[in-house]
Amino acid sequence: MSDLKVDFCGVKFKNPVVVSSAEPTNSVSHIKKCLDAGAAGVVVKTLTDSEAMHTLTNNSRYAVLNEKGELFRGRLPRFYTFYSRSGFAKEPYEQWYAYLTETQEYARERDAHVIGSIGASTPEKWVEIAKMVEDAGIELAELNFGCPHPSQMKEAKTGMLIGQDPVFAAELTHAITSAVKIPIVVKLTPQVSDVVSVAKAVKEAGAAGLTVINRFVGFAVNIETGKPYIDGRAGVGGPWVKVLALNYLSQIHEAVPLPIAGTNGIYDWRDAIEFIMTGASLMQVCTVVMLKGYKAITEIVDGVGKFMDEKGYANVAAMRGIATRASLTYEEQFARPKRKSAIDYDLCTSCKLCVRSCWYDALTVDGRKVKTDSDKCIGCELCVSVCPVPGAIRVQAPA
Ligand SMILES: Cc1cc2nc3c(=O)[nH]c(=O)nc-3n(C[C@H](O)[C@H](O)[C@H](O)COP(=O)(O)O)c2cc1C
Repeated sequence: MSDLKVDFCGVKFKNPVVVSSAEPTNSVSHIKKCLDAGAAGVVVKTLTDSEAMHTLTNNSRYAVLNEKGELFRGRLPRFYTFYSRSGFAKEPYEQWYAYLTETQEYARERDAHVIGSIGASTPEKWVEIAKMVEDAGIELAELNFGCPHPSQMKEAKTGMLIGQDPVFAAELTHAITSAVKIPIVVKLTPQVSDVVSVAKAVKEAGAAGLTVINRFVGFAVNIETGKPYIDGRAGVGGPWVKVLALNYLSQIHEAVPLPIAGTNGIYDWRDAIEFIMTGASLMQVCTVVMLKGYKAITEIVDGVGKFMDEKGYANVAAMRGIATRASLTYEEQFARPKRKSAIDYDLCTSCKLCVRSCWYDALTVDGRKVKTDSDKCIGCELCVSVCPVPGAIRVQAPA
């Protein structure tokens, strides 16, 4: 049996699946259900002193869209868009002291962890809430420098507004890491031009780990009404964002030697494996739990374990970062010998889809037969992508 245990910032997790800070972790009863479903940890809904963020939560709106951009109604599409607006924990942060101690005790009995999350309005309050989280016996806390909504609100000086300012982000990280002993993880925003420099800045300031990456701000239009869904801009994500999240993750994994919790776009265990192979130690899941229920957690944990057993990965570390390390630079790719398309006529059905998509005029039709011109073929592989028969067209080194 593969070993699913993970060490993240010195805290031992029984498996790499954690429920991220959001609605599934916004109450004691929700947190307990996440833990019962097998989560190795939960990040509590972000604790705050910000009235603006409380107001936002009390005005929460959600729209889940299908691939066409319509409300999905019925069976959840694999590539849904979760378009939503919600703030931080609705209760005053002081009230969470009791919730933290109770859920931490519950987690401990299940060999799991409750992780704090903080998003305050002033440096003093960031430090105060971090101390409260530590006093409640919590072993790890996340700073929410990524929440997309403050960018749309005059009164909410928190979330991604901090993540967009590497100097302030570093000062705040330093103030907090100097005031508490527990490891502090920084959750970053993708809405910066150079995410690696922000990650480096908070590392230098004392961050023990990173969460990569919070959500984007989006604009989703209902063409029937001619208006945006939920009346305006909102946070946006969903499984289709995974390829973007993984790019941030791979860049940071390459450049910043800190443990990373990956989030944004995980729908099932396959996605979780992609996050690990890109460089994540832990995975944080949110909207799939909101839409499929707590069983999504169990399915991801079980699926990761089964995949590792089948493929013979002894532990999570054996998979971590392998895809990022296998990634070639453009220059390295250009230096490789050119490969050319070749057709297996036993398999080719002459459907001609490859011809339609060859934009270098290397594929032509001769009678019913598709022919390839190796002088024109540049080995781009689009023909392989569109071919419905595996192996009927391959791109390979010339004999
Ligand atoms: C409705 C909603 C509320 C969220 N609230 C928070 C929050 O309070 N704090 C935080 O750090 N992230 C928050 N997030 C971001 C999630 O924790 C998570 O990182 C993000 O949704 C990407 O994961 P997913 O693709 O599994 O949904 C929220 C996301 C959603 C959709």
